[in-house]
Amino acid sequence: MIRAHRLEKSYGRGDSRVVALGGVDLEVDGGEVIAIVGKSGSGKSTLVNLLGGLDQPDGGTLEVDGQTISSLDRDGLALYRRRTVGLVFQSFNLVPTLDALSNVALPLVFEGLPKAERRRRARSLLDRVDLGQRADHLPSELSGGEQQRVALARALACDPRILLADEPTGNLDSVTADAVIELLLGTQEDGGARTLILVTHDEDLAASASDRIVRLVDGRVAS
Ligand SMILES: Nc1ncnc2c1ncn2[C@@H]1O[C@H](COP(=O)(O)OP(=O)(O)OP(=O)(O)O)[C@@H](O)[C@H]1O
Ligand SMILES: [Mg+2]
Repeated sequence: MIRAHRLEKSYGRGDSRVVALGGVDLEVDGGEVIAIVGKSGSGKSTLVNLLGGLDQPDGGTLEVDGQTISSLDRDGLALYRRRTVGLVFQSFNLVPTLDALSNVALPLVFEGLPKAERRRRARSLLDRVDLGQRADHLPSELSGGEQQRVALARALACDPRILLADEPTGNLDSVTADAVIELLLGTQEDGGARTLILVTHDEDLAASASDRIVRLVDGRVAS
């Protein structure tokens, strides 16, 4: 599903240049659950941002589901972001002025689905994360765990083959975090093995939730 070869990414230039990824090789099969761990600054978010099509590498190649992501243009990358991957972040990144239902339905607007169909799908996704009864709440009227569940529903809106979650429970207490992780892992089996990539600081979670742990040290895969 994913084949990264010698992926490189630096930020800044001259004296302030930081090599965030210094040649990452990674292969992930369809349906695998991968945990990415490593110290703060080791390149985890940089790698997830490349896998999510939010940014392009400076070197190396990235192939996902048969497409060479590293050579897509702007439009191709936008389509990839919407159709192939779903993203969940530590800060939930919901649109503050839209209620839960409209947040979940938003990616479907760009798919050109009629409004009734968008709302029907968004409602069923909210039910999926057990928030059907909060559909008309604004993000500010939801708890952290509820906001993250809305964000998860939104990430699933276009039924992506790959779900990328970067410290999705970083802002949640442990009980709420467990519930979000359980939902996240539950989506792996939806409609034929979804690939899950979970960035976490939590070694216990990485060990218990994933098929395989990828450890980054200074922008390289150490193990
Ligand atoms: N936009 C940016 N501009 C400059 N440097 C950056 C930028 N984003 C990340 N970096 C640097 O790149 C390196 C890798 O950052 P990254 O965010 O990938 O780390 P991380 O493993 O996700 O860390 P954390 O666990 O703290 O989230 C760090 O040294 C960081 O300071
Ligand atoms: Mg990070």
